[in-house]
Amino acid sequence: MSRALDLMSPETRANPYPLYAELRQAGIRPIEPGGMWAVSRYDDVVAVLKDSRRFSSEGLGQGFLPPWLPRNPVTQSLVMKDPPQHTRLRGRVSRAFGPAALAVLEPRIRAIAEELAERLVRREGEVDFMAEFSLQLPVRVLGLLFGLEPAQYPRLKEWADDLVSLPAGRHPPEEQARLRESLASLERCFEGLIEARRAALGDDLVSELIRPDADGSVLSHDELISFLFSLLPAGVETTVYLLANTMVVLSEHPEERARVLADRGLIPRLIEEVLRYEPSGHSSLRLVTEDTELSGVRLPRGAMVVVLLASALRDERQFPQADRFLLDREKPSHLAFGHGIHYCLGALLARLEARLGLEALFSRLQDFSRTGSELQWSPSLIARGPLALPLRLTPA
Ligand code: HEM
Repeated sequence: MSRALDLMSPETRANPYPLYAELRQAGIRPIEPGGMWAVSRYDDVVAVLKDSRRFSSEGLGQGFLPPWLPRNPVTQSLVMKDPPQHTRLRGRVSRAFGPAALAVLEPRIRAIAEELAERLVRREGEVDFMAEFSLQLPVRVLGLLFGLEPAQYPRLKEWADDLVSLPAGRHPPEEQARLRESLASLERCFEGLIEARRAALGDDLVSELIRPDADGSVLSHDELISFLFSLLPAGVETTVYLLANTMVVLSEHPEERARVLADRGLIPRLIEEVLRYEPSGHSSLRLVTEDTELSGVRLPRGAMVVVLLASALRDERQFPQADRFLLDREKPSHLAFGHGIHYCLGALLARLEARLGLEALFSRLQDFSRTGSELQWSPSLIARGPLALPLRLTPA
């Protein structure tokens, strides 16, 4: 394999899996953009994610802080920290995303899902699934977690979009000014929330994060702001695309679609296999901290590694018939939420949102199909999903 390979070329973004298969054959190798080292096999991906000493997350925030932006709290967030700082922060915030916290949220998320599904299926003709369902659910859930007023929910989506647009680079000056103001207003919004919760603790996430631990430890104000900032890129796009990818995959697999529409007990399996076959969290990045060897390849200190989760999830050595979408696949354990110390903090929440969203939807549907021309996929290495998803629904 000697030709230059580009993960961001339009052909690859439209269908990255042939290139991933080639990369798995070749082993670890440099790739465009930027001469990053692509890690594509399951075992190599696990090895990198397990080794935060040699493969660091510290410094990954640079893309989120272009020179024209005075500050961006997201660069100091959990996912961009190594131990020991990561260990302390993670210990402090995990409880808010554990089973007990989610059990309290479940009826409220179900109510949101039911309302959105009811509204969607009442629409006649073609619907834009992205705009009308898959975007709405995670944004409203995050709004609920933060304890925001519903009127602010649309703004939450814009803030999330603004944050993820930063590493894409090349923003004209007027756009730079808009983004500076957007991030400053997000920070003001969180400061307002924190101030209000300090005055009167409630049952929302911000209150939970303010409350001291059993040993009296608390997050500093900056840590709290950084963590809240990080939930927008981490918790919106990935879940939006999980819901959308599920509908895309089912629209292409009529037998499986009929099975899950007839038996909603299959939804948890469906979610796991979609997360493997068309994962919305597509890759992660790491920086090499010292000259290192991995599977016989020498990686120089300072090199950037792109950990291709979506490729590992199609590795035949780990998943027989990896290119097939199989609802009955055994051994669902996989890497769609990462691995090791940075394993997705919101994995339980994302699965819960997807399950409740799909249950609400499928209980109202007899069938659905895709309309329109070829899908346009997100131009991102990190999160993969369609930009729009026109569907025709047949109500039950
Ligand atoms: C389908 C939906 C989701 C997917 C596929 C996903 C995927 C991932 C992946 C792959 C990582 C590891 C990143 C790395 O190793 O560099 C991660 C970390 C993280 N995710 Fe998720 N995520 C999803 C939903 C969510 C949600 C709903 C939230 C919270 C509202 C969330 C919060 C986080 C946080 C805070 C981290 C950082 C954890 C740490 O560094 O210790 N995620 N996620």
